[in-house]
Amino acid sequence: MKKFDDYKDNDRKEDLKFESKVVHGAAGTDPFTGAISFPIYQTATFKHFSIEDKSGYNYARCINPTREELERTMCILEGGNRAFAVNSGMAAVSLVMSLLRPSDHVIYSDDIYGGTFRCINEVLTPIGVESCSVNLSDIEALKRAIKPSTKMIFIETPTNPMMKVADIQKISDIGHDIGALVVVDNTFLTPYFQKPFDFGADIVLHSGTKYLGGHNDVLAGIVIVKDRDIGEKLEIQMYINGAGLGPMDSWVVLRGLKTLALRMQRHNENAIKVANWLRGNPKVEKVYFVGFEDHKDYEVTKKQTTGFGGMISFKVDSTQTVNNILNRLRLITFAESLGGVESLITHPVTRTHKEILEEVREALGITDTLLRLSVGIEDVDDIIADLDRALK
Ligand SMILES: Cc1ncc(COP(=O)(O)O)c(C=O)c1O
Repeated sequence: MKKFDDYKDNDRKEDLKFESKVVHGAAGTDPFTGAISFPIYQTATFKHFSIEDKSGYNYARCINPTREELERTMCILEGGNRAFAVNSGMAAVSLVMSLLRPSDHVIYSDDIYGGTFRCINEVLTPIGVESCSVNLSDIEALKRAIKPSTKMIFIETPTNPMMKVADIQKISDIGHDIGALVVVDNTFLTPYFQKPFDFGADIVLHSGTKYLGGHNDVLAGIVIVKDRDIGEKLEIQMYINGAGLGPMDSWVVLRGLKTLALRMQRHNENAIKVANWLRGNPKVEKVYFVGFEDHKDYEVTKKQTTGFGGMISFKVDSTQTVNNILNRLRLITFAESLGGVESLITHPVTRTHKEILEEVREALGITDTLLRLSVGIEDVDDIIADLDRALK
């Protein structure tokens, strides 16, 4: 019988198109039984077949075949060499941040996801890691923020919720000149639209809860690396913190991944139409969408992505309009999270970004009239009709 291990290096499916890679995964079928749907290896430990057993499977905190299939699939999709599937996006952020040591300096995107900001502020700062937030669309501002101790540049692009775009290649070049790791949170665009390793990033991470899983039914996080040494450091940390994604949840993400390409195409198409419709509504003062040709960083978007994704933020004329929208929507649900098949809307000031200091939020434009919409894959006419009714 073929061992799972036999598939490790000879079945990378590198020559397939992305749409085929997501469907067929890494091993794809079960190497033991041929099961088309990769099995959920629901076990905590593994039998040693002999004292010399080199199967690689010992204890599920360290390795599990279902989690491994997800990790290897993500390596194929992102173009990395090692991946770690963990039990939330924040576990992925925390895993990456564990590479920092006291007195190291980290630079991060200024309107970063609130949880990542909280990790920096409440976990790293107390242990003596220095940090500073920078508008990473502004390369000169990044250069000014660099210190001799800068060890990491943490990019979210597009940013959440202001949809700013950072030039991954330029930032990676700067990061490598100073010996800093360049990390990209690729949650919003996924490897379907953006492959940060192609532009020099060292580490790519995801909240797999969002587009990768895609159905608002699982929490997951993934870290992908190219470099062996970084991979080994993260592996040790994984063994210690025990945050590895369980087999059932790994399978749910693998299942979601199979339709990633189709879903991303539809999210993108719908978001373009919804963003343009919002722009024409008299109660909408500003729409933030990376697919607009007059977006400040449109040229960077065109250079490093093949699509715009499904995320839109918009400002309305008053808090009363915010209330009306959130109370009147019927198809679009007022809920945190994003990237699932269902359209969701949130109010960053009171939800996703409440951890960010008020004056910082105001300076970034995250005001009480800002809403963030994750455009789902429903019929776009229904999404627009729902917004139209709510904005009347
Ligand atoms: C860009 C981004 N990164 C990371 C996270 C954290 O992911 P999770 O909620 O799966 O822990 C989120 C959550 O919304 C996010 O939007």
